[in-house]
Amino acid sequence: MTAVRSTDFTEETSAQVVADSFGATTDPRLRRLMVSLVQHLHAFVRDVEPTEAEWQHAVDFLTDVGHACDATRQEFVLLSDVLGVSMLVDAINHRKPAGATESTVLGPFHMVESPPRELGADIALDRNGPPCVLAGHVRAADGTALPGAQVDVWQANGAGFYDVQQPDIQPERNLRGLFTADEQGRYWLRTVVPRHYPIPSDGPVGRLLAATGRHPYRPAHIHVIGSAAGHAPVTTHVFVAGSPYLGSDTVFGVKGSLVRPVTTVDDPERAARYGVENPFRLIEFDVVLAS
Ligand code: BEZ
Ligand code: FE
Repeated sequence: MTAVRSTDFTEETSAQVVADSFGATTDPRLRRLMVSLVQHLHAFVRDVEPTEAEWQHAVDFLTDVGHACDATRQEFVLLSDVLGVSMLVDAINHRKPAGATESTVLGPFHMVESPPRELGADIALDRNGPPCVLAGHVRAADGTALPGAQVDVWQANGAGFYDVQQPDIQPERNLRGLFTADEQGRYWLRTVVPRHYPIPSDGPVGRLLAATGRHPYRPAHIHVIGSAAGHAPVTTHVFVAGSPYLGSDTVFGVKGSLVRPVTTVDDPERAARYGVENPFRLIEFDVVLAS
């Protein structure tokens, strides 16, 4: 496209004039990002024709989003989450071969390291929720077991809160654990069935949800990061079948392939292997890693 002189700035030429101003950017990726951003932003403004008061409101909103951020809270990521942008970036960056476990958002509650725990350990230190076993295999996409794979797990309790949200109520590192799969690539642990919960909604993102008639809830889930040498790690969740909000997760994180039932198992031998009373609740979730 031929350059438009900056003195020819009109409603029609604005995007081109500003895009041209980035013509000297030596980093080609940065130039592409800025030109595309300007084109989409100007198209948006031309489309909605904001009043000056509306534009100021938008600036004030983003200022509030910035002010809501601190060492433990990232309101910009939350905004990206509720706009579906986090899941879109995730989808673009984690295209998986058929059969590999799909990824979903990391979320803000992996802020502390999960403590290494023995297979079979009970991570529900506060015992708040219906006890259950989480178990599965870690495999490569071709079906090969991955002994020594790591399974990092964290979740909310049966009341819908993470340990870091209730430091005075829950024990430190409650409902967190880093497990190492056995020689057959199996992992298992004792926990509780988590509850659905609202994302932090006492800030500007919560106001945006309220103003647009959206709820702030996520369906019940357990976060999992699966990793093994020579394979791409996967950041994902296992979602509890039947949970409220499975069809309307406020951060759009649900994928059908990640939903699992909580079954009741009557098998004394297996109960003894897991160190639980028979019968017991079980969520089975295999983690399949792409190479
Ligand atoms: C979570 O699942 O922990 C989460 C994800 C995105 C935003 C807020 C919470
Ligand atoms: Fe979560």
